[in-house]
Amino acid sequence: MLSLIFAHPYPDRSRAGRRLFDAATALPNVEARSLYDLYPDFGIDVAAEQDALRRADAVVWQHPMYWYSVPGLLKHWFDKVLTRGFAYGGATAALRDKRCLWVVTTGGDESAFRPDGMHAHELSAFVPHVRQTAEFCGMHWEEPIVVHAAHRIDDAALDHAASRYRDRLTALLDTMNETAKETSS
Ligand SMILES: Cc1cc2nc3c(=O)[nH]c(=O)nc-3n(C[C@H](O)[C@H](O)[C@H](O)COP(=O)(O)O)c2cc1C
Repeated sequence: MLSLIFAHPYPDRSRAGRRLFDAATALPNVEARSLYDLYPDFGIDVAAEQDALRRADAVVWQHPMYWYSVPGLLKHWFDKVLTRGFAYGGATAALRDKRCLWVVTTGGDESAFRPDGMHAHELSAFVPHVRQTAEFCGMHWEEPIVVHAAHRIDDAALDHAASRYRDRLTALLDTMNETAKETSS
């Protein structure tokens, strides 16, 4: 099982994120949680979120880049859900050894993420705090999926990004199935 945490403040107005999300949720064994649909008032059901993570072998964090970071509700989800004794510390560490895939859409195109570009830094400069959040919880960091210029790429490019995403999730699910078989034999 793969837990897909989708954080788009306006899921109904999202074009890129929604297309990716729909491609992912068409796959079997993907449990999707659209945070802004579930918790429009930020009242996160921590027990439900933690249960979903316990069930998962891999976790996907998918969102649009907002001010070089995650949207507010995903940050709040980190704060409330990834607690000591559940996600780290103590004997349980529920996320240890699970895989974590970060899927981010950006407004800037690739040239914007260069020292001489609009955002003045490579995209890799904005990865460490998300990656370290995953790794602090003992998760394995997967190569992220980044969809640039998400608000203006054409439908064909978006379809291509969606199929790339679907392929990555399928490979992840296959790897998890293989691991489960090896563990049980
Ligand atoms: C509040 C806000 C902050 C944003 N910050 C960034 C940013 O830091 N870098 C960037 O490249 N795009 C930024 N964007 C653009 C969004 O990432 C982009 O519009 C989104 O990924 C498009 O996906 P969607 O069609 O699912 O909404 C921002 C947009 C908003 C509304």
